[in-house]
Amino acid sequence: MSVNGEYLLRCQGVTKTFGGLTALEDISIDLPPGEILCVIGPNGAGKSTLFNLLTGIFRPTSGKIDFQGRSLIGKPAHRIVGLGIARTFQNSRLFGDMSVLDNVLIGMHSRTRGNVLAAVFRPGLIRRRLAEAAATAGSLLKAVSTELFDKRYQPASTLPQADRRRLEIARALASEPRLLLLDEPSAGMDDRETETLIEDIRKVQAGRPEMAVIVIEHDMHLAAKLPDRVTVFDHGRQIATGLFEEIREVREVQEAYLGK
Ligand SMILES: Nc1ncnc2c1ncn2[C@@H]1O[C@H](COP(=O)(O)OP(=O)(O)OP(=O)(O)O)[C@@H](O)[C@H]1O
Ligand SMILES: [Mg+2]
Repeated sequence: MSVNGEYLLRCQGVTKTFGGLTALEDISIDLPPGEILCVIGPNGAGKSTLFNLLTGIFRPTSGKIDFQGRSLIGKPAHRIVGLGIARTFQNSRLFGDMSVLDNVLIGMHSRTRGNVLAAVFRPGLIRRRLAEAAATAGSLLKAVSTELFDKRYQPASTLPQADRRRLEIARALASEPRLLLLDEPSAGMDDRETETLIEDIRKVQAGRPEMAVIVIEHDMHLAAKLPDRVTVFDHGRQIATGLFEEIREVREVQEAYLGK
């Protein structure tokens, strides 16, 4: 499952407190390349906090986070993107006035910036680079959804909710991540749209077999169908990890999440 015996991501005993509140307590995750893991749990369970720890927004109070064998702790967020971790946010962070294509180009910023001298003395080179970047952005959109590609010149604000979520995934992919983090991508989607999203995520992952994906979800339908494994958080504690069929049998999970 792992490359050279290494996990892509390994979290061991990760705890995060905010003053007196323990948002996450003793979380452990071993994620091999290519796996799709779903994190589920009720409101306030600590799911988004996990992503904030993995992307350098917060620093864990204790515990270890290793990515490709190196510790992420203390690394600033921009360095972590460079190492290969990209995310989407629970609340959409698109630039509404900009086109769909431009929103993806922004995600490619680190790979497209040229220096000022080159812009002055070699404008042809810069133009060529921009054209290449636009072509790459277009193919990223296509990889996520051809429907979205067809809307590439529209302002992002004109997209329906489901397309906005898809666009955020395309933008996250623009940094060529080894680990893709999706925070409630199906929020605001109906069942049919969620079904399409499941297919889109599968397709994107299949096109990058080494890339692992962690999806935070409220939607049990998605958790049942998409991931290889599921881990369940409740009040900051990790109460079960395994196949969906396994975790749904755990009494604590039923009490905490399924409302039985
Ligand atoms: N920056 C912060 N400062 C203080 N408390 C925080 C901070 N971020 C999160 N928390 C608290 O940590 C707990 C976990 O929050 P988190 O956002 O991770 O939950 P979640 O599982 O993503 O919930 P939801 O399903 O509502 O998105 C909550 O009690 C929240 O209020
Ligand atoms: Mg959240």
